[in-house]
Amino acid sequence: MLYPLLLCLCPLLAHAARFTLTHDPHTSIIVENPAGGIVNNSAIIAGSGFSRAFPVSRKDSGISVNVRSISPATVKVDVASTDHAFVGANFTGDAATFWGVWEQPYTEGITNNGFNETLRGPNIGIDGMATARAPFFISSDGYGIYADSIRDASFNFTDSSAGFLFNSSAVTYYIIVADGPGDFKSIYREYARLSNTINLFAVSGYGPTFWTDDSTYTANWPKGVTNALEYHENLADILHTNNIHAASMFIDRPWGTGTMGWGNFDWDPEFFPNPRQFFANMSSRGYDIMAWVANRANEDTLFYNTSREHRWLWDGPDVNPGNSLGPAVNLSNPDTYGWVKDHLLNVSRVGLKGYKIDRGDENEFPDWAQHEQNALMAQLTYEVMKELYGPCQQGKPCHSYTFVRSAHDKSRQHVGLWNGDTGAGYDGLRMSVRSAIRAGLINFPIWGSDTGGYSGQRTVEVWASWMWFSCFSPVYELKIGKDNNPWDEQWAPEMMPVLKKTTDLHHELVPFIQSYAYRSTKDGVPIVRALFLEVPQDTTAVAAVDDAYFFGEELLVYNFIEEGSHRSIYFPTGSRYVEYLGNSSTVYQGGSTIDFKRDSNSPPVFVKEGSIVPRGDIYRANNRWDPDWKPHLTVEIFPSYQVSESRFSYYVESLGRATTIEMATSRKQRCVTVHHGPLGADATLLMYSKAGKRSIPLPAKGGKVVLKDVISLFD
Ligand SMILES: *[C@@H]1O[C@H](CO)[C@@H](O)[C@H](O)[C@H]1NC(C)=O
Ligand SMILES: *[C@@H]1O[C@H](CO)[C@@H](O)[C@H](O)[C@H]1NC(C)=O
Ligand SMILES: *[C@@H]1O[C@H](CO)[C@@H](O)[C@H](O)[C@H]1NC(C)=O
Ligand SMILES: *[C@@H]1O[C@H](CO)[C@@H](O)[C@H](O)[C@H]1NC(C)=O
Ligand SMILES: *[C@@H]1O[C@H](CO)[C@@H](O)[C@H](O)[C@H]1NC(C)=O
Ligand SMILES: *[C@@H]1O[C@H](CO)[C@@H](O)[C@H](O)[C@H]1NC(C)=O
Ligand SMILES: *[C@@H]1O[C@H](CO)[C@@H](O)[C@H](O)[C@H]1NC(C)=O
Ligand SMILES: *[C@@H]1O[C@H](CO)[C@@H](O)[C@H](O)[C@H]1NC(C)=O
Ligand SMILES: *[C@@H]1O[C@H](CO)[C@@H](O)[C@H](O)[C@H]1NC(C)=O
Ligand SMILES: *[C@@H]1O[C@H](CO)[C@@H](O)[C@H](O)[C@H]1NC(C)=O
Repeated sequence: MLYPLLLCLCPLLAHAARFTLTHDPHTSIIVENPAGGIVNNSAIIAGSGFSRAFPVSRKDSGISVNVRSISPATVKVDVASTDHAFVGANFTGDAATFWGVWEQPYTEGITNNGFNETLRGPNIGIDGMATARAPFFISSDGYGIYADSIRDASFNFTDSSAGFLFNSSAVTYYIIVADGPGDFKSIYREYARLSNTINLFAVSGYGPTFWTDDSTYTANWPKGVTNALEYHENLADILHTNNIHAASMFIDRPWGTGTMGWGNFDWDPEFFPNPRQFFANMSSRGYDIMAWVANRANEDTLFYNTSREHRWLWDGPDVNPGNSLGPAVNLSNPDTYGWVKDHLLNVSRVGLKGYKIDRGDENEFPDWAQHEQNALMAQLTYEVMKELYGPCQQGKPCHSYTFVRSAHDKSRQHVGLWNGDTGAGYDGLRMSVRSAIRAGLINFPIWGSDTGGYSGQRTVEVWASWMWFSCFSPVYELKIGKDNNPWDEQWAPEMMPVLKKTTDLHHELVPFIQSYAYRSTKDGVPIVRALFLEVPQDTTAVAAVDDAYFFGEELLVYNFIEEGSHRSIYFPTGSRYVEYLGNSSTVYQGGSTIDFKRDSNSPPVFVKEGSIVPRGDIYRANNRWDPDWKPHLTVEIFPSYQVSESRFSYYVESLGRATTIEMATSRKQRCVTVHHGPLGADATLLMYSKAGKRSIPLPAKGGKVVLKDVISLFD
């Protein structure tokens, strides 16, 4: 059959596009962005397999290509073929750098140049499991490409070109150009609009969260503990005694009866004898509890028997038949989906507040089905929580938090991420820092890692560095267990002070993190930001930096990701910085490099001149050691006369929206003015200047403060 030739004759612009679009009569689509860069979509390709594709022309029979400009920043391209099962596109550029697609740092860094792989990623063992992925990448030439498909694909990034090919005879992709030179954040706003954004997950999701691999493991139990629930209560006691902030815990597998403790949709009466009472008790102590789930029907369980009887299980040559971790079901079948949902709902009624969704990338279904099956599992858990607590509503935190390892662009709305089971050494930490940055680059903003690693032997040095990294991650989760508790005798002298400092600070950063999470629900700009996202003028210098990131716009976070007592720190141009946590008032110039000495109590974290950092103790979580606890917010400011205006968009739960905190400085009058909307809690303004710290009470309802004779730290 001959497809009608849908040739768009340009210009076909219904609105003021900020680019010019031309296409050559054969294949290429050229988008010239006056704000910088050219998008050279040099070919549409089609073929019969991932490594069997060739350029096609729109004039070829059976090929349809429809090109339209749909917004001032975006060109939409629909490609379809009647003769080819695989279609895609190629892009060329001059020495461009490419980022995105995979959370997992297969490339040992944050850029993709020189790498080709399927979207689902290779399955390369426990440290390299496929994690989050999205058919989205950006180019240093100032554009992004988003392919709106749940099918599997391969992405190929050679030195200066990029290509993708979908296992699908049709695909729609978008070419998004930046608002201005280096304004990559504008590409994220458009990507978010075309795809989806996260929900504002429950505050308890940010942690600190404590968990253990197997709470039925009796060797783990302290004296007097007789079951797994008591183990968790005892853990809450330990945290309470040590005044360690925690907002949630999760119960890993096993927690039910039957093979591997999963599949009968019940609570094991031996280890979890009275779950309803336990959940009520933990809730009254300030904890939300999540539990492990997976699309795995372990043999001899209700899940397995039912699925077998109804022929819901995946089989076929691609599926690992003897998979000891249990076969999976086909959630695309509405009957299957409904059955799993009902059973998960029934067992969650005791008071679960979310899930850790494991697996999804271990050959339990054919590779090509991974993305969709994983997205369906994320949706299913969301729907269970919705049945129990109502839907997530715009502007309000959800009542639950679910996090996963294997996620696709289409799962984003429902989940945060943890990056899988990493090793406990620097390899694991290094990979985790890269994953955090890469997750941000594909708009998965809520992210955490197993602090100290999942497997292998920890050392004090790595664990301390990792605690600081988790402190400045959106989610701080920490795996504990036999011989791996920071309060164990062998660890306590060194680890407890770091645990205390990092969990205290993470707890205080929750207002800051949540404000950014709220923004992400609207604009898709992540919290953990690759340096180049924040410093358009310095993109080239920082394009590949994979051990540092901006936490929001204000904080520059470096990490110790290898052994050594020192590391070098580069300050991106355009701003000056001071240490955020130390007592040093040394000002670091943008463009300079310093040597930083390792100190487990003071990490290499810096604050940008002119910053506003709202932080404070506004969520009580497990704090029962202060019986008179009241929420209190501290708005830190770091005025600089070189920054005449700055603002922070601060999320206030009781308002269901953000208010603005603005700071203006005047060198002439040596004065700093702060305007703010309602803050939802008693607050203090804390100004950092050469005269030290100065605090001024702020009215909760909003107002204005004028500070005179300020000698800026940056003067
Ligand atoms: C686009 O790339 C193709 C292939 O590299 C090249 O032949 C063509 O000249 C480029 N077009 C522009 C406008 O740069
Ligand atoms: C562009 O398409 C061709 C198919 O002709 C393919 O062989 C080549 O690898 C593609 N380039 C990239 C960067 O994917
Ligand atoms: C990536 O490239 C290698 C070497 O050229 C090739 O063997 C492999 O099949 C490619 N992978 C994909 C997904 O195209
Ligand atoms: C990736 O693209 C380059 C350049 O076009 C090409 O040489 C190479 O064969 C491609 N690899 C795959 C696996 O398509
Ligand atoms: C492409 O997807 C189909 C299912 O739609 C599957 O049967 C086939 O194996 C896939 N091909 C590859 C190379 O993954
Ligand atoms: C709740 O936990 C506390 C502390 O472990 C304990 O003292 C109390 O008895 C528990 N209450 C119930 C109802 O289980
Ligand atoms: C599953 O079926 C097997 C027999 O096929 C039976 O022995 C087992 O008790 C069943 N398990 C459940 C939980 O139904
Ligand atoms: C999975 O379920 C869907 C919907 O019922 C069905 O169309 C599809 O064929 C199933 N896939 C397999 C491999 O059984
Ligand atoms: C629901 O859970 C209860 C225990 O809480 C159990 O007794 C009951 O059998 C379950 N119902 C179904 C349909 O699984
Ligand atoms: C900064 O100084 C205060 C008061 O002297 C001290 O308590 C704190 O530990 C110091 N912080 C660091 C990181 O050195």
